[in-house]
Amino acid sequence: MKQKKNLFVANWKMQLSFNKARELAQVYRDQHEKLHTDRAHIILCPASEALASCAQIVEDSDISIGAQLVSEHPLGAYTGQVAAQSVAEIGCSHALAGHSERRQHNHESNDQIARQVAQMIQNGIVPIICIGETHEDYKSGNGIPVLERQLASLFEIINSSQKRTEIVFAYEPIWSIGTGIIPESEYLRTMFSWLDGHVQAHMPDREYTLLYGGSVNENNTHSLRRIDHMHGFLIGGASLDFQKFQKIVSLWYTE
Ligand code: PGA
Repeated sequence: MKQKKNLFVANWKMQLSFNKARELAQVYRDQHEKLHTDRAHIILCPASEALASCAQIVEDSDISIGAQLVSEHPLGAYTGQVAAQSVAEIGCSHALAGHSERRQHNHESNDQIARQVAQMIQNGIVPIICIGETHEDYKSGNGIPVLERQLASLFEIINSSQKRTEIVFAYEPIWSIGTGIIPESEYLRTMFSWLDGHVQAHMPDREYTLLYGGSVNENNTHSLRRIDHMHGFLIGGASLDFQKFQKIVSLWYTE
């Protein structure tokens, strides 16, 4: 059987202006041979305004483009929102949902996130669904119940869809995002093992991939990639520097 590719998702957030995002996409495009694309699937997620332009830049490479945001609504009177259909027409194959920054700053609820995911699936976009607990929940041993709550309405939506789109879950402990702190390997092992079993049990006939996100860098790649059930990374800060991102991908495949 053909080995499934690992996923390396670059989340550029709102860190780059339109021109800077284009420049960085061009760097990725020019050096894409260094990204092990025979084994690694690379997905760049620029901000909404740069999606079309970046999609054109990487068009003839193995690099894919993902949106950071898709509306929970279909086309209609929703000022300022981004329709999944348009995102698909632009050429995006993936989209993020439920990132903690959107949960926090835009007050997105689990139900809203589930409806965004429904729009993605409807339009043939692979959702990359972010889940994760706060530091408080981590300290009080509530990581798993938090993930359980975040996942509950998603399973309903995913299982009720006729389309068999692959689903990606990115486990991102909120206290690890942008902080330089990563959880102990033992903790990650427990979380990924639980997550894999839980997802498998709740969507038994769907294909899925589990990622880790939160302060991934060249120095922690080696220990992180040894965690069972984890098949790639969602990378924020380090993806803004092609050399660092390239190093992370290379290190994944280095013994
Ligand atoms: P970070 O961001 O790699 O900068 O911690 C990850 C994310 O927010 O997806």
